[in-house]
Amino acid sequence: MAVAAPSTSLVNPSRQGDLLVVTIDNPPVNALGVDVRRGLAAAIGAAESDAGVKAVLIVGAGRNFIAGADIREFGQTPQPPSLPEVCAAIENCSKPVVAAIHGAALGGGLEVALAAHYRLAVPSAKLGLPEVALGLLPGSGGTQRAPRLIGAKAALELILSGRHVGAKEALSLGLVDRLAEGSDALAAGLAYAEKLVAAKAPVRRTRDAQGLADAEASRAALEAARADTARKSRGLFSPMKIIEAVEAALTKPFDEGMKIERQLFLQCIDSPQRAGLIHAFFAEREVLKAPETKAAKPRPLDTAGIVGGGTMGAGIAVAMLDAGMPVTMIERDETQLARGRANVEKVYDGLVKKGRMTPEAKAAVMARFDGSTRYDALAKVDIVVEAVFEDIEVKKAVFAELDRVCKPGCVLATNTSYLDIDQIAASISRPGDVVGLHFFSPANIMKLLEIVVPAKVSADVVATGFELAKKLKKVPVRAGVCDGFIGNRILAVYRQAADHMMEDGASPYDIDAAVRAFGYPMGPFQVSDLAGGDIGWATRKRKAATRDPKARYVQVADRICERGWFGQKTQRGYYLYPEGARTGQPDPEVLAIIDAERQRAGVTPRKFSEDEIMRRYMAAMINEGANVVHQRIALRPLDVDVTFLYGYGFPRFRGGPMKYADTVGLPKVLADIREFAKEDPVFWKPSPLLVELVERGADFASLNQSE
Ligand code: 3HC
Ligand code: NAI
Repeated sequence: MAVAAPSTSLVNPSRQGDLLVVTIDNPPVNALGVDVRRGLAAAIGAAESDAGVKAVLIVGAGRNFIAGADIREFGQTPQPPSLPEVCAAIENCSKPVVAAIHGAALGGGLEVALAAHYRLAVPSAKLGLPEVALGLLPGSGGTQRAPRLIGAKAALELILSGRHVGAKEALSLGLVDRLAEGSDALAAGLAYAEKLVAAKAPVRRTRDAQGLADAEASRAALEAARADTARKSRGLFSPMKIIEAVEAALTKPFDEGMKIERQLFLQCIDSPQRAGLIHAFFAEREVLKAPETKAAKPRPLDTAGIVGGGTMGAGIAVAMLDAGMPVTMIERDETQLARGRANVEKVYDGLVKKGRMTPEAKAAVMARFDGSTRYDALAKVDIVVEAVFEDIEVKKAVFAELDRVCKPGCVLATNTSYLDIDQIAASISRPGDVVGLHFFSPANIMKLLEIVVPAKVSADVVATGFELAKKLKKVPVRAGVCDGFIGNRILAVYRQAADHMMEDGASPYDIDAAVRAFGYPMGPFQVSDLAGGDIGWATRKRKAATRDPKARYVQVADRICERGWFGQKTQRGYYLYPEGARTGQPDPEVLAIIDAERQRAGVTPRKFSEDEIMRRYMAAMINEGANVVHQRIALRPLDVDVTFLYGYGFPRFRGGPMKYADTVGLPKVLADIREFAKEDPVFWKPSPLLVELVERGADFASLNQSE
């Protein structure tokens, strides 16, 4: 096997008979960084100039073909050759080029394959154009070649959804020509390329493919996608640009379409949404790298116990059952246990009713579920998650039982929202095994899992929390112990800012509308109605005695709760929900209550613009986010970002509150807080971290690199 072309070490060309095998070897995912692009271009050049080479085979080393452009390069000065140039060189090669795909062929990776003349996939292959998830569009011919190859309808669906398709589906769509058995893409690719050479197969350029031949059908698909996108992708920039690019594939010659694609791609690159979405991409991977996951290996995690079968206990049980774990639930008595089981079954019955699960599959899942009123049933489990009432004495009693029955090494987790986990840990003989696992409601759906780290916990217990998150397909964020951990602690502060604005003159409907316009699916008052106002009311009553008497306290929520208006479940809260409607209507009686409260508090209402509402809402969120980082409750600003993206509906295209703060500029955020502090210096206290960063001319991003 002789080396036939210059090697950049990331791209290794080697001769195998009359084939040039070009292996991309750029761990971890063979991203198309500048050296890979150079190596690929050089390898194609070498194939052209070597008369002995009859065909080229492109393969990826490691677990993937190519995962796409190197995302870290976006936003930096582009280095030649560009990926469209490399793809053009591949497509224009005078000798057949074959791509043999295993693992990921995503984004630019699939675009390289589309530029090749023949494509083969092994069963592990997943193909896709997921650029939309990064605020981009396929920028190396994907919007021009994919529609020509598989038709406008399928290409639009692929690009707008960003989904990954498996090898079989790729074959049926026409994205690949051939499906090979087994896992060895190199061997399958060699066999295929040799066959093509023997058959004197011609080069076959995707740019000339006839997938758009039915102009009427293509146009109809485009218009349908345009209407659908206008409806669905509220506030997102790149989906409409994708439509424009694909429209060029329908209406312009290939080279002109490529130019249009490039212009639109560059617009996406320059958009703040691209920066926000790429921040989110890396942040959700960075959160996995907590000190404990580096320092320790997780404990075994095959079987689980749940204490409490209410809203959370049942949801957590479903999440674990869905991950294939056997689950044993403990409840106070047989009646509550039956209710707990019913809560679990209800979820699966819903799926069966919708046709998303067969009754047999439900039976198979429920066979892994067991319940008891006796703690001894937990003697053998690897992990227990406690989800009983939010009362420290009740929780301590539960932990005493767990201490008595659980095997040594069993992880003892609490799902408490606010209580002091150090106190719970200190109350038993094995504090090193106690950790907080704060799930979000509905626990089988919400992706966020705060892993709350008390003072005495062992590193391997924390690592087990991260491992559980992986098993349950959740996004873990490490948090320190404090009232509300990361998410609920910050929420409490910006909810107060919203209440202040409500008393000062903005209606809850104005505030919700501003928050939705910012990109949230719902505003804070809608969320309160969905979650049930009684929960917050109970917390406020509990904390009333310890509340700072100097702090402003808006009583509107209490007035509403006193009437028994707890939101959707009582058909009215801040909104009216006639006959169980899910979308609320503004309620004049609520506005009257607010007016009365303004009078009681001696407030003369004033107008708030959407911009001012969001400035105050975000300043409160960012300031408390900075406090949380300053006090090491969150390791880095990015941990706050991921918490809000996955637990609180923060618009992903803004990257998270701390990323958003950097986008706005920290001096501006601090100036806002200082201005608001003139009216209410007790509530608006600039975070010491924010002040320090502004003084140093630094931003939150600079702290993301420091761990
Ligand atoms: N560029 C740079 N780094 C990348 C990358 C990329 N395209 N894709 C993954 N990585 C990095 C990750 O950040 C991670 O780094 P870390 O170990 O330092 O945290 C490492 O590679 C491994 O990634 P994962 O942890 O995600 O590994 P998995 O095995 O779970 O998943 C994957 C592999 C499915 C390939 C997943 O990484 C992925 O979806 N990657 C992004 C794919 C993508 O969006 N491609 C399109 C890029 S944009 C483009 O191509 C534009 C073009 O049209 C011009
Ligand atoms: P819930 O009231 O719906 O359920 C609590 C369950 O615990 C009840 O079924 C009750 O019978 C059972 N229980 C009480 N004492 C028990 C004992 N000694 N032994 C066994 N079972 C016992 O409460 P919910 O909402 O599920 O909350 C549970 C915990 O999860 C609380 O700590 C809460 O703060 C926390 N949490 C709640 C969230 C929510 O949105 N509801 C979100 C995140 C955490």
